[in-house]
Amino acid sequence: MTIRHILALLDSHAEGDEERLLSIALSIAATEARAGHADDANALKKAVQRLRDARRPAPMAAAPIPMARPRGELQTIVESSYPKTRLSGMVLAPATADKLSRVVRQQEARATLREHGQTPASHLLLIGPPGTGKTMTSAALAAELRLPLFTVKMESVFSRYMGETASKLRLVFDQVASVRGVYLLDEFDAVGARRGDPNDVGEMRRILNSVLSFMEEPNSTDSIVVAATNHVEVLDHALARRFDEVIEYSLPSADEGIAILKTRLGKFKLAAKALKGLREDLGGLSQGEIVRAADSAVREAILDGHTEISADHLAAMLRDRKAFRDRFHTVS
Ligand SMILES: Nc1ncnc2c1ncn2[C@@H]1O[C@H](COP(=O)(O)OP(=O)(O)O)[C@@H](O)[C@H]1O
Ligand SMILES: [Mg+2]
Repeated sequence: MTIRHILALLDSHAEGDEERLLSIALSIAATEARAGHADDANALKKAVQRLRDARRPAPMAAAPIPMARPRGELQTIVESSYPKTRLSGMVLAPATADKLSRVVRQQEARATLREHGQTPASHLLLIGPPGTGKTMTSAALAAELRLPLFTVKMESVFSRYMGETASKLRLVFDQVASVRGVYLLDEFDAVGARRGDPNDVGEMRRILNSVLSFMEEPNSTDSIVVAATNHVEVLDHALARRFDEVIEYSLPSADEGIAILKTRLGKFKLAAKALKGLREDLGGLSQGEIVRAADSAVREAILDGHTEISADHLAAMLRDRKAFRDRFHTVS
């Protein structure tokens, strides 16, 4: 131990800088170790460790672990989950799959992009009829990026008072900026559709516009904001260009429908010929409706103790869905 060390120790003590004092003690330990005084060096290191342990707060009092779970009023507006759905498990049109992998790629390499003054694609608008995979896509994006999915219950955001709506959106976007995640603003249409007010599209646009202005605030967390809607009417050029990607969803083609059936039936077999025969029955059904019919056929097979799906039953289920859809659509 040198005079220089002692002086430094005294200085740190005088300044009340305990961290510096301990690190000087450790550097003395290192000097002693190099000089071959292993025992002295260890004794010194242990003493430092004891002091550090004593200073460390008890585990319970430790800094709060940031929980990806909204608190307070946000709890009534935002639902959080950690989905496991993968993009590869979805049957998507090639153009849609491309757009989505572009987003994932940019998000994964966001550090590189930021080094070059760029930000990753993070604002998506998903448009299309119900049951075509908008919600599922948001879940898959979250899973791909290992991020929490925050579903914003738009119904609880909307208020007849614009000021209230804005302050709730403020809460949401404060979280967007502080907790990285996929934020799904689901079903904008929920606002008015049920009230049947002809001004609803106008109101939806108004809210969409305030969402857009919140979206434009810098967001260093690179959270992804996904707005999903059934209403194609909201889509115009001015709106679309404020999103990094606008993705349109539609009912599946016959091939896509068959592919969804196949993945959904899983280990339950259905003769290739029977599968082909179902093509006609898929027409007009959404991805969601096909999945439900397939699930129902699988349940029946399980209960019947069969490993094979009854093509007749599946066809009946699909037709039943179709009939329901036709009835429902003529009413609304
Ligand atoms: N592209 C797809 N590939 C496979 N299954 C899909 C696809 N799109 C939808 N589904 C199925 O349909 C269900 C409903 O889709 P969802 O994402 O909720 O539709 P949306 O949000 O557009 O109304 C999903 O839970 C999933 O089982
Ligand atoms: Mg949905």
